[in-house]
Amino acid sequence: METTQKTPAPAHPRPAKLNRRRIVICLAAAVGLGYLVATNPLPVAGIDVLSRRPLYTCHTTSSSSPYAVYPRPEDPFRFLPCTNATRPPLLEDPSPAATWTNLYEPSPEHWSWGKATTNISSTNESDVYAGRGIYLCGYLDVPLDWTNTSDPRITRLAVTKYQVAGPDLQFSHRPRKSSRTIVVEPGGPGGSGTLYVWNGAEAVSERLSGGTLDVLGWDPRGVNTTQPRAACFPHDADRDRWWQLAHRYRAVSEDSSMSQLEVADALFEATFRACWEKSGDLGRFVGTGMVARDLNAIRAALEEPQLTGYLVSYGTGIGQTYASMFPDHVGALILDGTQYVPLEWMQGGFGWAALANITDAWRDGFLGECLAAGPQYCALAGRLAGSADDDGEVTLEALEARMAKLVASVARRPVAAYTAASGPSLITYSSLVPAIYSALYRPRTWPAMAQVLFDLEQGNATRAAAMVDALIFQYDPSRAPPESTLITLPGEACPIAMPAVPPLPSTSELMHLVVCADSYDAPQPADGLVWWDELWANMTAKSWIGGNSRFYNVLPCRHFGKYWPQPAGVYRGPLNRTLSNPVMLVAETHDPATPLVNGRRLAAGMGYSNARMIVHHGYGHASAADRSTCTDDVLQKYILGQGIPEAAETHCFADEKPYMYGVGKASVEGAPEQDVTGVWREHLQEMMLWNPGLARGRA
Ligand SMILES: *[C@@H]1O[C@H](CO)[C@@H](O)[C@H](O)[C@H]1NC(C)=O
Ligand SMILES: *[C@@H]1O[C@H](CO)[C@@H](O)[C@H](O)[C@H]1NC(C)=O
Ligand SMILES: *[C@@H]1O[C@H](CO)[C@@H](O)[C@H](O)[C@H]1NC(C)=O
Ligand SMILES: *[C@@H]1O[C@H](CO)[C@@H](O)[C@H](O)[C@H]1NC(C)=O
Ligand SMILES: *[C@@H]1O[C@H](CO)[C@@H](O)[C@H](O)[C@H]1NC(C)=O
Ligand SMILES: *[C@@H]1O[C@H](CO)[C@@H](O)[C@H](O)[C@H]1NC(C)=O
Ligand SMILES: *[C@@H]1O[C@H](CO)[C@@H](O)[C@H](O)[C@H]1NC(C)=O
Ligand SMILES: *[C@@H]1O[C@H](CO)[C@@H](O)[C@H](O)[C@H]1NC(C)=O
Ligand SMILES: *[C@@H]1O[C@H](CO)[C@@H](O)[C@H](O)[C@H]1NC(C)=O
Repeated sequence: METTQKTPAPAHPRPAKLNRRRIVICLAAAVGLGYLVATNPLPVAGIDVLSRRPLYTCHTTSSSSPYAVYPRPEDPFRFLPCTNATRPPLLEDPSPAATWTNLYEPSPEHWSWGKATTNISSTNESDVYAGRGIYLCGYLDVPLDWTNTSDPRITRLAVTKYQVAGPDLQFSHRPRKSSRTIVVEPGGPGGSGTLYVWNGAEAVSERLSGGTLDVLGWDPRGVNTTQPRAACFPHDADRDRWWQLAHRYRAVSEDSSMSQLEVADALFEATFRACWEKSGDLGRFVGTGMVARDLNAIRAALEEPQLTGYLVSYGTGIGQTYASMFPDHVGALILDGTQYVPLEWMQGGFGWAALANITDAWRDGFLGECLAAGPQYCALAGRLAGSADDDGEVTLEALEARMAKLVASVARRPVAAYTAASGPSLITYSSLVPAIYSALYRPRTWPAMAQVLFDLEQGNATRAAAMVDALIFQYDPSRAPPESTLITLPGEACPIAMPAVPPLPSTSELMHLVVCADSYDAPQPADGLVWWDELWANMTAKSWIGGNSRFYNVLPCRHFGKYWPQPAGVYRGPLNRTLSNPVMLVAETHDPATPLVNGRRLAAGMGYSNARMIVHHGYGHASAADRSTCTDDVLQKYILGQGIPEAAETHCFADEKPYMYGVGKASVEGAPEQDVTGVWREHLQEMMLWNPGLARGRA
């Protein structure tokens, strides 16, 4: 995914000249009444004093605005142009539609616009936004339990859409929605689809459709701005307090692995208890079968008979489940970074099925490509100052041994560090190794990671500390506390305080709930923790880089059945029902999370008539991490309905090499001074999509 940094309230281009004649529109709170009052001018704002909720707001708009008033009638998503306030109304809100409509902000300069496309045919002097796409925010209420019609509860899915043609027009009933919509899902479990749209929709639309199709993402049940939320700690700081205790790695569980396992297991027991106390039976309803039904509801709300989608990582698990449950509603569906869901149904499968190619990514990729690029581009390719072997080049074996030595020394004794932001800090084995694993997801981080490891070898832990602090802690003490706002009611002398809204804790526990719900009926080992200890040993032997992290993703499942013994709507196959259209799988040769072998299992399981595959020869997680024109061409043709490869497998190679991206094209000369913190912050933003467990959310 391309990251064009953007927040929900970007700096907005100012309209050059607007007709300043104002029309004031007041939206009545009881929007159910459905009328607009146009008059000139009206009181400022009304407040329901008892609930301290704005009751109605008066909107000013410029008569020169060519755009329609939102939400559009009968839009099931109730889309509004996004502002920093367009978060779906609370579930407890008795009149959510009215509250939501009140958030409509009519001035286009407060909306979130896309970049101007290069393709504007006619620039209209009086329409400064011509040729820009628009970010629309909405929500969709669906049953919490799709399998029980007498359960009235809902989940309110947060939805964000990038509409390439721009907002709907004022005097037209025709929406400017594209003919089809690329629905995206970034994975996790726990990745936020709305964040994915903010960070990547324009790049996705460009890459997969030449900028012609809209892109829609949603926060899956339990995640981020969807409600109810699966956050089991009241504050991120509370989670941080326990995190390191429960995530000590095997190599540093010096007393015995079993005593560490008892600690982690007890904390996961406490965590699921807290999830139960806070959210009750929510854990029954977050499994992938339920998410697939939500996806079908989104498709139906789009009024598209067949789903067009780009689903990544765990999103491919949602995708293959969706395709099997709704085989007649498959349009053009790309599953990139492929899981094979039957493995997810097994005890610990989410963990052990991910490990096959991590060592290959480290050895061939991170280290091998470093040496191929040379010391000009990769700090680790140089010989160590004062090292004895000053003859000739650094070999791969020598570099690998150097890294093993470094990591072993950190395991023996953590490295003391200092940063101005955090004060005293430590580089531990259990924080450095997940940072390395995380970097393997994205080769663009490799120069920064190589610099960090090189510095550490030299005894300088400053950059490493900045990196692991951002990785390990979710709570950011430097973030300003929320402020309450003062509002003066009409006719009142004294302002009242609207309460401050503290930042919500992240929904980190959702991942465990999904992983465990999907494998809920896998037999629990009779010998309890002994089996898990053996699994831990096996996984860390298979990969010292990813084994621990993946193990702790699945260990909590020991306690799932105590609270949620019967998840609803679980799907157990088959995966080979005849689809209305074949899906397009993409699997990467050096993927650290979704190895190629799983993609091949999926392709074989679905059958040739249902699936084709691209074998993407490149590094990182999913194919956008290491772009290939060949892959992009096949995907765009497929999405645009211009054909699908005959061959069961198409082999595509990445265009460039890690450490050398852009070299020789732009004015890149040698390795620039690494802005490790900046590169890493951007990386963690992205990791929150693919694997929130490896990003922790303080990006
Ligand atoms: C330019 O935009 C204005 C305002 O939307 C509209 O009234 C006018 O018809 C447009 N002109 C052209 C040539 O499209
Ligand atoms: C939202 O953005 C407006 C300006 O567009 C700003 O005045 C306001 O403080 C922002 N609100 C929040 C909660 O960030
Ligand atoms: C269905 O929902 C009703 C109402 O909440 C509840 O009483 C019943 O136990 C539910 N049935 C199942 C199978 O979950
Ligand atoms: C939640 O979604 C909003 C956008 O809708 C995004 O800004 C924020 O980063 C997301 N948070 C997480 C933890 O993904
Ligand atoms: C962009 O312009 C080119 C050349 O005029 C045209 O072929 C293409 O269809 C246009 N794309 C869009 C999205 O309008
Ligand atoms: C990935 O792992 C599989 C299974 O162990 C192995 O056959 C394959 O060669 C590995 N890929 C690479 C690029 O080393
Ligand atoms: C350690 O690295 C940091 C960041 O590059 C640098 O600012 C600092 O001077 C280095 N410290 C020493 C003692 O070399
Ligand atoms: C660990 O690996 C051994 C050897 O491959 C295997 O026999 C055993 O079943 C594995 N145990 C677990 C819990 O994965
Ligand atoms: C579908 O897969 C099952 C095994 O999961 C197999 O028994 C069956 O023959 C397959 N059906 C078709 C049509 O290939």
